Amino acid sequence: MTAAPVPTDLHPSADDITGDVLRGLSQDPKRLPSKYFYDQRGSELFEAITRLPEYYLTRVETALLAERGAEIADAVGPRAHVVEPGSGSGRKTRLLLGALRDPVAYTPIDLARDALSAGAQRLQAAFPAIEVLPVIADFTRPVPLPRPARDARSVLVFFPGSTLGNFTRDEAVDLLRALRTTMGDGGAALLGLDLEKDPAVVEAAYNDAAGVTAEFTLNLLRRLNRDVGSDFDLGAFAHRARYIADEGRIVTTLESLRDQVVTVAGRRFAFARGEQMQVEQSQKYTDARIADIAAGAGLRVVAAWNDLRDWFGLRLLRPA
Ligand code: SAH
Ligand code: AVI
Repeated sequence: MTAAPVPTDLHPSADDITGDVLRGLSQDPKRLPSKYFYDQRGSELFEAITRLPEYYLTRVETALLAERGAEIADAVGPRAHVVEPGSGSGRKTRLLLGALRDPVAYTPIDLARDALSAGAQRLQAAFPAIEVLPVIADFTRPVPLPRPARDARSVLVFFPGSTLGNFTRDEAVDLLRALRTTMGDGGAALLGLDLEKDPAVVEAAYNDAAGVTAEFTLNLLRRLNRDVGSDFDLGAFAHRARYIADEGRIVTTLESLRDQVVTVAGRRFAFARGEQMQVEQSQKYTDARIADIAAGAGLRVVAAWNDLRDWFGLRLLRPA
């Protein structure tokens, strides 16, 4: 049995969460940061979402990685240190690590400590020759990379799942700029991005018939009640996900079902009936939008792979 990799823990404190929540609730309209969806139950619910018939993203991206692995490996080159922000359970990572030539190390970075540790352990068992060096951290802040025992030729940032789409355009540029520093001049980033398509297909992916996505969204409130001591009434908010076609993005809100007051860290926040609190956005991309964000971060697209329906895209970016 392979020893379980011990994560480097740069975990943010409860104070960070409380501060973020108080800041978000003080805005008009109110918002909550989507990075706090992923406690243990949130990570499990996200895994359940990836298996829903309506949530095409994971299935299409996984098939794309399986089909184009050899081409991706040629474009990336040998002996990479693969760094994955927001790795979650790491299922797609297996396909990538299996395709690359002699990858040296793998550093998953995630706030979700349980999902991260379990994923790292499974990967280490599947790839004993690769050094697995997990880091518990917020990937929107600079993360010092652990140094592998064997020298890598380059850093490959693997950022699948269209997680970039959970950031606004300007946040995405800032994040990619930070990742550009992580990868260095000789490095690259492989992004998985959900592409613009029939709005009905997109909207269904965030409003599944079984209600798992609604449960995922409401779990944010349960998590905050536990970790910051808020008193959100889960029965008094409802999941809403709407596609704003001219912006190409899903906006997910929690709608207050009645006039109510919520207390967080001794502060009271009034919600009106029908008020929408934004909890997530999921950007869908066009090539123009991808080029704009890449250029803003000093990167350019050097290779692109889409599935046959152009529903989902992989893009390899290098420093411009
Ligand atoms: N990469 C996987 C999982 C996507 S879910 C896939 O493609 O299916 C998004 C993951 O990003 C979750 O595991 C969540 O905990 C993590 N995450 C979101 N924001 C984060 C942040 N700011 N810092 C670290 N991890 C974050
Ligand atoms: C992780 N992220 C890219 C998912 C998305 O599609 O925006 C999270 C999610 N939210 C609702 N369903 C899935």
